[in-house]
Amino acid sequence: MISIYIAVASFIMSVFYFVVLLPLVPLLKIKLQLGQKAVLMYYPFAGLSKIWNDSITKEKDLLKTINQQLIKNPNVVVILSNFLHKPLLIWTGSEYIKDMYLDHTSYVKIDPFMVESVGQKGLVLSEGDRWKRQRKLLGTAFTFEKLTSRLPMINQVIEKVSKDDKKRNLNEFTSRITGEVVIHSFFGESTNGFQIEGKDAQISIVEILSEIFLLPMNNPFIQFKQMLFEYKSWSIFPTQKEKDLLRRIYNFKQVIQEMIEKRIEQLKNQQLENQDKMVFLDLYVTEYLKQQQDKKQEIDIEEIIHQFITLFFAGTDTTATTSGTCLYYLAEYPEMQNEILKEVIEIVGEQGDIKEEHLNKLVKINALIQEVLRLRNPAFCPIFRTVRQDKQLLDVKMKKGWFTLQYHIGPGLLDKHFENAQQFDYKRWLNKGNVIKNDNGFIHIPFAAGPRNCLGQHMAIMEIKMIIARLVRQYKIQLNPKVKQITFGMKFLYCVEPDNCLIFEERNSG
Ligand code: HEM
Repeated sequence: MISIYIAVASFIMSVFYFVVLLPLVPLLKIKLQLGQKAVLMYYPFAGLSKIWNDSITKEKDLLKTINQQLIKNPNVVVILSNFLHKPLLIWTGSEYIKDMYLDHTSYVKIDPFMVESVGQKGLVLSEGDRWKRQRKLLGTAFTFEKLTSRLPMINQVIEKVSKDDKKRNLNEFTSRITGEVVIHSFFGESTNGFQIEGKDAQISIVEILSEIFLLPMNNPFIQFKQMLFEYKSWSIFPTQKEKDLLRRIYNFKQVIQEMIEKRIEQLKNQQLENQDKMVFLDLYVTEYLKQQQDKKQEIDIEEIIHQFITLFFAGTDTTATTSGTCLYYLAEYPEMQNEILKEVIEIVGEQGDIKEEHLNKLVKINALIQEVLRLRNPAFCPIFRTVRQDKQLLDVKMKKGWFTLQYHIGPGLLDKHFENAQQFDYKRWLNKGNVIKNDNGFIHIPFAAGPRNCLGQHMAIMEIKMIIARLVRQYKIQLNPKVKQITFGMKFLYCVEPDNCLIFEERNSG
């Protein structure tokens, strides 16, 4: 009998050690060291998930609880929380964020998908020499000439999707546009009619990738499995949903592989004429074939598939969600909508495509995008990271394996950096003087900063400008009166909900 008591007591003690002492003691030490500059938000096991879930339930905004802490005390530099049994340090002070972005090799990104052979060989998750090689190669696809050569395609996609789509689901509508733009930028002409699972490819891919990401969030059993077994978790007591997803991932990779192989065969026998119009796939295939000729093969087909998934993941939902939030604010502030409509008509005209010479002149749309990225950036922080080796971050010591995050939206919410920082005021970006006060270069960094900043940022801004300009010219954008409560929640990213919150009324319908 006594041995049972001892076994139960030791079990309780080890759970207490694992769940409470292990994360809490180091957090308390940092709290003691930093005092008011640190906020302790530890919750046994649930940690950040609890902060976010409570914030959505009580405040109808995923980030409000954390943001309020910063606004209440602008000297806060870190939120001390936990992810399951490990400390999670959410850095909000701009000097700490700066150090982390500049010293990026001290941290390891956590794969947001945790599925083998999905994106690990792509640019976002690569490290060291492979990352350098890919960044250099892909950089050539994001030059000004290459970006502007895609303008006619982007115009066409926006026109086609806004005609075809019923526009009852904001996220689906905008992701159809941005997904198709990434697919065309990657595969070029050969994608027309590209279908997966009987649907437009971009819709299926967004669905599949979102499901992979949300699976552990919505199922604690799967979350726990992934924590313990990482990639292997998919084969350990797999649920039916996991099995189905794996099958769907396999199928969609097959379709992509076939398209890549077809292009390799075509380019073996044909020289590309216009280098400026080269799509991502051609760039990759040309390099692949060159390496084959030189017998120095570094790129394989798997890497090209991963790069497509990476660019799709990095470029679709981010751009779609930012566009969706801009559209929401246009509906929320009809006066701003009228001013922006006026700007579009003056610069682009009542009809016709948006061209290169218009882009820099759409200053009000640019201001709207910047304000949305300041307050509602869908990528309010980058991918979660762990500390690679014990690390001194300015005055704080972090241990190998701790979770850490740059909350780069944080500094931009403070009055010490922006006038009336809590107010949505797009006009602040139209001021000629310094918009940002006490700027160390890391206050407004919606696309992250340092060597691993967003490679697609100019493409994103160009695309969002075009989406807003074309949609505002064609539709009066209104809040749906049937929707009583707007929430800033999270799908894959931080976004406005519900999906039917907007109504698009054709301007020349009557
Ligand atoms: C509003 C839209 C976008 C936002 C807010 C955004 C934001 C970001 C952020 C915060 C990062 C850093 C991630 C990290 O280090 O964990 C990043 C990286 C990246 N983004 Fe974007 N992004 C956007 C659009 C795009 C587009 C359109 C593309 C390409 C089609 C793209 C491609 C990439 C790539 C390849 C990286 C990884 C760069 C590297 O590690 O060297 N992004 N983005």
